[in-house]
Amino acid sequence: MTVIKVALLGFGTVGEGVYSAIHSHQTQLRKLLGKEVEIVAILIRDQTKERKIDANVLVTTNFEDIINIPDLDVIFEAIVGEEPSRSYLLQAIEKGIHVVTANKEMFANHGHELIQRAQQNETKIGFEATTAGGVPIIRTIKQLLQVNRITKIQGILNGTSNFILTEMRERKLSFDKALQLAQKKGYAEADPTNDISGIDAFYKLMILSQLVINQQPNWSEVIIDGIVSITQEQIKQAEKRGQRFKHIAEITFNDHSLVASVQPIIVDSNHPLYSIEGVENAVAIEASLVGKITLQGPGAGKLATASAMIEDFVDIIQHSATKKRLEYQSI
Ligand code: NAP
Ligand code: HSE
Repeated sequence: MTVIKVALLGFGTVGEGVYSAIHSHQTQLRKLLGKEVEIVAILIRDQTKERKIDANVLVTTNFEDIINIPDLDVIFEAIVGEEPSRSYLLQAIEKGIHVVTANKEMFANHGHELIQRAQQNETKIGFEATTAGGVPIIRTIKQLLQVNRITKIQGILNGTSNFILTEMRERKLSFDKALQLAQKKGYAEADPTNDISGIDAFYKLMILSQLVINQQPNWSEVIIDGIVSITQEQIKQAEKRGQRFKHIAEITFNDHSLVASVQPIIVDSNHPLYSIEGVENAVAIEASLVGKITLQGPGAGKLATASAMIEDFVDIIQHSATKKRLEYQSI
């Protein structure tokens, strides 16, 4: 039986999640794809870290070792920051290797370029995991966009911020303690600055904007505020009034303008995001035909993010297989 050869870039929270999901769901993958999925290589940065990886997998710090593997089908990218991620993915696409990424910072900045290159090279790029963790928001929007016109998106897009706000209110943890817990659980970024300053949710909102109208607002015109200055006392006072702090990202697609903001808002108990707690994300989409749809689920973490990446992977393999089959039939 031939295999589908994949490589992982990064073996942190997300990379490990993909590795374990491929192993734990191999039977299901074989049933769906008709082939075994083999992880042939993993790119890391620090070779001295101890890792639980099968001995037959190439573990390397050199991307060239990976890109030159014969018949490599898919690269899963879960490293950090714009570079070298962008360059690696461009090289992969040029070589005809499909890519699946979780890297929102890179994708908010360079997603448009990568999608164009992928189209030119007849490769595919999956980016479900960049936004709202395990919540299938990208595929839902793609599906809706076939006929509907999306007019507004509002949601909680950062699991770490929502987790911190919940822990500060429910268990009266200090901001620092709650953040440490989010880091321990694998929700926060390696450097959590973007989580708590609103930048991470901003990147996700920009990815959604690009998807919906192939355009992003002028970044300097977007209000971006995080949760760092919210105190225990403010949370307590809000709770006495029956209200909660929620970190809300929203964008309105007007005919001639885009209005976007990412900021903490005090909401009443009748607000749809009031009861979204812990690491959960929720995204409400308003669209011309369907009205309002809200998706909710785990917004960060190892297996939730791996789930989004594996679903992308299956779509990619199934669609590229369909294409190959159609090409074969037309010969
Ligand atoms: P992480 O735990 O910090 O892991 C990052 C991994 O990437 C590590 O294995 C690291 O290598 C490797 N790495 C970083 N820079 C590298 C480079 N220049 N070359 C080679 N390897 C490099 O991060 P994570 O939480 O898994 O997140 C990975 C990506 O997914 C990020 O872009 C993040 O924003 C995104 N994401 C995370 C989540 C989540 O819940 N954590 C959810 C959605 C998306 P070493 O192990 O050698 O240090
Ligand atoms: N650090 C991110 C969050 C991971 O907490 O939402 C998911 O993108």
